[in-house]
This record gives sequence, structure tokens and C-alpha cells, in this order.
Amino acid sequence: GTVPPPRRVGAADLGIDLSDRDFWARPPAERHAVFDRLRQERPFAFFAEPQIPSLPSGPGYHAVTRYADLAAISSQPAVFCSGEGAVSIQDIPADLNEFYGSLISMDDPRHAKIRRIVAKTFTPRMLERVVDSVAGIVDDVLAAVRRKAAEGDGTFDVVADLAAPIPLRVICDMMGVPEEDRAMVLAKSNVILSGGDPELVEDEDDPLTGVLMAGIELAGLMERLAAERVERPTDDLTTALVTTEVEGEKLTHQEIASFFILLLVAGNETTRTAISQGLLALQDHPEQRAAWVADPELTRTAVEEIVRWASPVTWMRRTATRDGELNGHRFSAGDKFLLFYAAANRDPEVFADPHRFDLARDPNPHVGFGSKGPHFCLGAHLARRELAVTFAKVFEQLPDLEVTGPPDRLRSSFVNGLKRLPARLTDAS
Ligand code: HEM
Repeated sequence: GTVPPPRRVGAADLGIDLSDRDFWARPPAERHAVFDRLRQERPFAFFAEPQIPSLPSGPGYHAVTRYADLAAISSQPAVFCSGEGAVSIQDIPADLNEFYGSLISMDDPRHAKIRRIVAKTFTPRMLERVVDSVAGIVDDVLAAVRRKAAEGDGTFDVVADLAAPIPLRVICDMMGVPEEDRAMVLAKSNVILSGGDPELVEDEDDPLTGVLMAGIELAGLMERLAAERVERPTDDLTTALVTTEVEGEKLTHQEIASFFILLLVAGNETTRTAISQGLLALQDHPEQRAAWVADPELTRTAVEEIVRWASPVTWMRRTATRDGELNGHRFSAGDKFLLFYAAANRDPEVFADPHRFDLARDPNPHVGFGSKGPHFCLGAHLARRELAVTFAKVFEQLPDLEVTGPPDRLRSSFVNGLKRLPARLTDAS
């Protein structure tokens, strides 16, 4: 017989509306209470797309909140693809999708090929060099924090003064971005990751144009750098990207520019969020902080727990390529799924006492860097090292750091970012 069409069940009867932008700036405990209900009561709840005037609005998306469902979707890229869009709920034109998404919005065979080119440049040697430079970058940033606090009233902003400059400098050093262009890179990266936060977009009714302009400026910078490296190779990643070939194919300068934008999206804001949310969590859990300070061997599990706890990337999107069924839920070709890493990371089926911040948690199979599949975070190793070095050095060099809060949260569904986190050094004066 004929199969009935799949049901799309919302969550209005549960009083839940994820399309409400303000939801994303609520305190984490409130957001997690909502994720808990969805996971338990409506694991594939259907939501309308937030309206963006410059984009056609589609039917909506299924919110995937259970760990098992998320893992199943990530591991079947042929059924749940990324090429229709991975970082935006709305369908955006294909050329823009690649421009802003690079690898993350591609499918095989293109994805596999580009990822091989990029992975060839992300060699252990290249990474070791970058990792070695992280210590010096963190030393500089923390010294500047100490100076700023000493010259003023002891206060500073964790986000702007500490968490943001570290990953930005790491990526800019890696790619060879000149010093004078870095303020622009930071500003444009913030616009792209604004998630429509009214403070960061130029026009709230038309956030896309600002994002486009930001991307065009970043791409211009990177295309210029790529052309320079063809003439005068150095030992940076941009040089590796212009020269590396797989099966006779090299990246075009435009593809390198898109990859740079992806690094800013995937590697900059995320690491910043893990640092700032991590420092906030440590302030809220002083006994955990004390345990880590006393035992540096905790670092391995502590870093994983911070990524699980913060889940800097709230979701990525997949789109069904055909009709099918997943763990009892029927779906149709074209259905969109948001993989809520933030929710899966608190699934009690996988994590005992999931709302407990426990730096010793082990094992900790969190999906903060994605779940097993072709798009798993390319920078996970680097991010782990950045976080380990940053926290160790904060304990050593800024032992008097006190987060005074409250945090000012980004109104974005996509990244769990903080815009500001007030703090002070108690021994500054
Ligand atoms: C992909 C998280 C740091 C580069 C991803 C994904 C997540 C993620 C959730 C998508 C996984 C999927 O769809 O299955 C994070 C977090 C970070 C971090 C939480 C910091 C705490 C970095 C860094 C870099 C980086 C430092 C590079 C410098 C990438 C790239 C991709 C990616 C290139 C796309 C890979 C692909 O589509 O093939 N990351 N990331 N990330 N990440 Fe990260």
C-alpha cells in the first residue's frame, strides 16, 4: 500500500518555540531545560524557520536532540547531506553556500577531494609549529591583560581582552595575515558570526547583506595574500594551500579565500567561546577550578568537559536526500535537520548526571567537535592544545582572575557565544 506522509509535529503544545531569537540569549539552565524536554518528549520536533527578508523561507526543520539520532545522521552523509547548507537554516543560493561554507557545506566527491588537499597542509609538522607558537601568543595576551588591569581599575573584559585575541592570532599567524589587517579580520568575523544579533548586524531586517560584504572583504584580503604567496612562498598555511595538489588539482584562490572564512567561522569564534564559557564555568564551580589548579594532570579531561559543557557550536544542519526512516521517525527528501550538539552533549543516555560540570569526567564521548563522519572538526587537535595552554597559563599568570559577570550573551542560535564577560584582577593595584 501507499506509505502515509511523515508527520511534522511541532512543540507549541509544550510551550517551546526555538524560532524565537530571544530564546538563544536566555541563561543556559533555561535553554537546557527546553532541550531536555524536547529530547524526552519530542526528539524530532518540527520548527518554523526564522524569517530573513532577503532569503526565501522554507518549510522548517526537525530539531535533533538525542545523542543516538545525531550520531546516526552524522554517520550517513549520503542520506543526510551538507551541500544544501550546513551553517544556515534557510536555503541560500548554491554559490554563496560554498563561498561561506567551504568544506563544511560540501558533499562527496567534492568534499573528500578538498578535504584531502587541506588535510595535506594541516600536517603534523605544520600543526606542531602552530602549537609551539600558541604558548608565546598566550603569554603576550595575558601580559596585555595584566597591563590593562594595572593601568586602570583592575577590570577587563574576558572576551575582548583574553578569549578573542588568542584564537584570532593563532589563525592569522597560521595563514600569514599581516598585522595591519587583523583588526578588520576580527570585525568581519564577528559580523559573519553575529547570528543576526542586533548589536552586531548593520541592518536587523537585512542581516545577510552585511554578512555578504564582510565575506567579500575577507575574501579580497585572502586572494591578495594567496597571489603574493605564489610569487614569494613562505612557510605558512596559505603557501601550502596555493601549492598543494591532489590528483592534479589545486585549490583556486577563491577556494582558499572560502577556506579562510571557514577557519574564521569554525576555528576562531568556537575557540573563543570555549575559553570564555570555560572561565565562566570555573568561576561558577570554584571547587572544580581549585581541583584543576592543584592537579595539572586533570587537563586532558578538563578540556573535553569544557567543550562538552560550552558546546560552542550549538548545531549544524543536514538535509535529507531521500525519503526514509530514522529510529522510528519517518522523513521526506528535502527535510532539514538541525543537529543540536548542545542537547546531545547533555543526553543522560550517554552522560551520567549530564548537567554536572565535572572536569574529571571520563569517558567523555561529547560531540562538541561534531560526531563521527566526514565533517568531523579538522581543528580539534589544535583547539584542544589552545585550550590546554590557555587555562594552564591563566592559572599560572593570572591566579587572581575573578569573573565578576554577568555575561552578555550573543543572541544567536548557532554559536553559544558571549559578547562580554566582565572580570578583574584582584591583585592589580
Ligand atoms: C568543523 C567545532 C575549533 C576547523 C567543525 C564542526 C564542529 C566544530 C561542531 C562540524 C562537525 C560536523 O559537522 O560533523 C569546533 C569547536 C572548536 C573548533 C567546538 C573549538 C573549541 C576549530 C579550529 C579549527 C577548526 C581551531 C581550525 C583552525 C574546522 C574545519 C571544519 C570544522 C575546517 C570543517 C570540516 C569539514 O567540513 O570537513 N568544528 N571546532 N575548528 N572545524 Fe572545528
